Amino acid sequence: MRMAFRFILPLLLVLGGTAWVAAPLVGDLIERWFRADVEMRSQLVFHSVQDTVAGLAADTADRKAGRRIAELFQRIALDERVLAIGLCGADGQLRQRSPAWPKAMACPPFPTAGQSFTVERLDGGPVLSATFPVAADRPQLGSLVILHDLRFIERRSSSAEIYLAAALAVLALAAAVVTVLVARFTLRGWVKAVRRGLASQPGDGAVSPEVAPLVREMRKMIRELEAPRALTEAIRIDWSPDSLKSLLRDELPGAEVLVVSNREPYIHNHDGDTVTVQRPASGLVTALEPVMRACGGTWIAHGSGSADQLTVDANDRLMVPPDRPAYTLRRVWLSEEDQDGYYYGFANEGMWPLCHIAFIRPTFRASDWDRYVAVNRTFAEAVVAEARTPDPVILVQDYHFALLPRMIRERLPEATVITFWHIPWPNPEVFSICPWKEEILDGLLGSSILGFHTQFHCLNFLESVDRFLECHIDREHSVVRASAGTTLVRPYPISIEWPPAALAGQPPVEECRARVRERFGLAPDLHLAVGVERFDYTKGIADRFRAVASLLESHPEWIGRMALLQVAAPTRGRLAAYRDTQAEAQAVADEVNARFGRDGWAPIILVPRHHEPDEVFTLFRAADLCLVSSLHDGMNLVAKEFVAARDDGDGVLVLSTFAGASRELLEALIVNPYDIRGMGEAIQAGLSMPAEQRRERMKLMREMVGEHNIHYWAGRMLLDAARMRKRRQIEREIVAVAAAPARPAEDRTTKGKRGKT
Ligand code: F6P
Repeated sequence: MRMAFRFILPLLLVLGGTAWVAAPLVGDLIERWFRADVEMRSQLVFHSVQDTVAGLAADTADRKAGRRIAELFQRIALDERVLAIGLCGADGQLRQRSPAWPKAMACPPFPTAGQSFTVERLDGGPVLSATFPVAADRPQLGSLVILHDLRFIERRSSSAEIYLAAALAVLALAAAVVTVLVARFTLRGWVKAVRRGLASQPGDGAVSPEVAPLVREMRKMIRELEAPRALTEAIRIDWSPDSLKSLLRDELPGAEVLVVSNREPYIHNHDGDTVTVQRPASGLVTALEPVMRACGGTWIAHGSGSADQLTVDANDRLMVPPDRPAYTLRRVWLSEEDQDGYYYGFANEGMWPLCHIAFIRPTFRASDWDRYVAVNRTFAEAVVAEARTPDPVILVQDYHFALLPRMIRERLPEATVITFWHIPWPNPEVFSICPWKEEILDGLLGSSILGFHTQFHCLNFLESVDRFLECHIDREHSVVRASAGTTLVRPYPISIEWPPAALAGQPPVEECRARVRERFGLAPDLHLAVGVERFDYTKGIADRFRAVASLLESHPEWIGRMALLQVAAPTRGRLAAYRDTQAEAQAVADEVNARFGRDGWAPIILVPRHHEPDEVFTLFRAADLCLVSSLHDGMNLVAKEFVAARDDGDGVLVLSTFAGASRELLEALIVNPYDIRGMGEAIQAGLSMPAEQRRERMKLMREMVGEHNIHYWAGRMLLDAARMRKRRQIEREIVAVAAAPARPAEDRTTKGKRGKT
């Protein structure tokens, strides 16, 4: 519309001005043409009657002659254009006239030059008097005067002016419409050419010469945009809350940050008459909480604590952390039915076993799916309600919200949605059993960025999209282009805060060792292995106990000299698979303890309760070895926390090859959790590893986690988001430039530069 006005308005102005100037000129020209015509006609009339009139006028005594002149005049005056005709004497007196001769009209002077034409304005309008000597050689005969009514010329000339103006107006309109259409098609082609040019390799000749200068300029700008990535990847940055804050300030100025997860970072529970705050056993919370403390913003999550409703304001919000408020927690309330269908049902009986290879059959119920859809919609409403700007950065977390990105995109099309999938993504064969696979893929593709822990999971996702959806996958750039938008699919291995907050109040390692051994009634010199998890079947807890049995079987010298302290937070207890997991682990622990235990010593100490981060860190510091033997795990942050807890530089990590962390913590003792004997041997190797080797390995792992900490994780995603937002801005500018009236290329490129800042 704006483009149409840009073309039509100037055209109308120009053509209107032309009409205004040209119309009087045309009118004047037409008048002159007609007047020449009338003069010629007068001459014609005069020549045809000259002889007759001369003969009659000479015979002044004959009264008959006078009558014949009058009759002749009457006949001539019948002509439509001739107003009247008269005969003037040599004395200038009117001697004969036709009846319509105007009373006010006197005889014009005798035409000494052979003829004369004058225009007089009488009451009725302009009148041309054409005067001829009756006989050139006898001036005494007087002159013949033919009067012409010129009003018709005026009428015609003003009609001509009107026609001209109308014709120009129609022409202007037609020209404007044609111009707009041609411009549209041309500019569309031009935008395509720019896009094609940008997609081609520099110097391969694919850029059309028309757009080459602009493409060159845009490439330069895009190279400039790549600079921050080059910086983070080429230079070792110490990622900290401050670097994350400055990244937000410099690269995403003014951006509002919203996080959405099922699990909330602080849970308020009734404990008798008091209310206690719990930090949930959740890798997701461990990772994201420090990010939110650094960035501020709003975290939207399910309010699951028994005292949660008591601690929020009228808008279901509260500031957290309780001791040092830094961001807003917005709680969303779910009914029992919602939780059964969405959380326990579809998320944890469907998606969780589908994505983890733990050989637990997923269960898909249509009623659970309906709840899952409804709860995703509830969270979408909450996001829209919390967003204060049209283009917030929204960090959607995990398999509870596969549909949320698309729902947000529909409501906040300008938002940057970064979705992180905290668990593995299965291969397409496994994924294909999900009855709502297309909906899940489509929902996730509402994201601007979709992150997984590993490249392997990204590839599984892309394969699934390829298999089940109609869209274009750009494998080189790991981008999925669907009709509804573009999604960048990248690995962002999650991590933890460095140094972790829980480390701050820890006593020295020696003291932790003594405290823990005392608390559990263990000998001061006992070699201690620890395991810390949620009681989940993916964690391989029972197999770990079997591995301890295998160790004691193969290396009986450890009997009475080592123990595995396993703390496991009960989780998802409403589900049979979880109750069975706990029961199985307890049974195996009892069996191993019954088989090898003696004199107050048991090889396995199983503590099935939640531990707060401080307690967990004390356990890590007290241990000689940490055992992380997940059957399958997206990342597993316990492994990284153990490394972070060991600021003394000692300790051995035994890590499952099926945990994402094994891709980064290469100095751990990597095990196959299904190979019980192999795991037993790894524990043996860890417990008997020389101190120097332990320290060397721990040093390298600490460098890795310290460098690739949670701020690095968030920073990389936010940098990608910033780059994406800038690219979108550039694309908008291309379209805006294309839609603007043609200007010199120089001018266009200057505008592009300005827009980038
Ligand atoms: O691994 C994915 C994850 O979301 C973890 O971040 C977290 O440990 C767990 O699953 C969630 O557990 P819960 O169901 O108790 O929130």
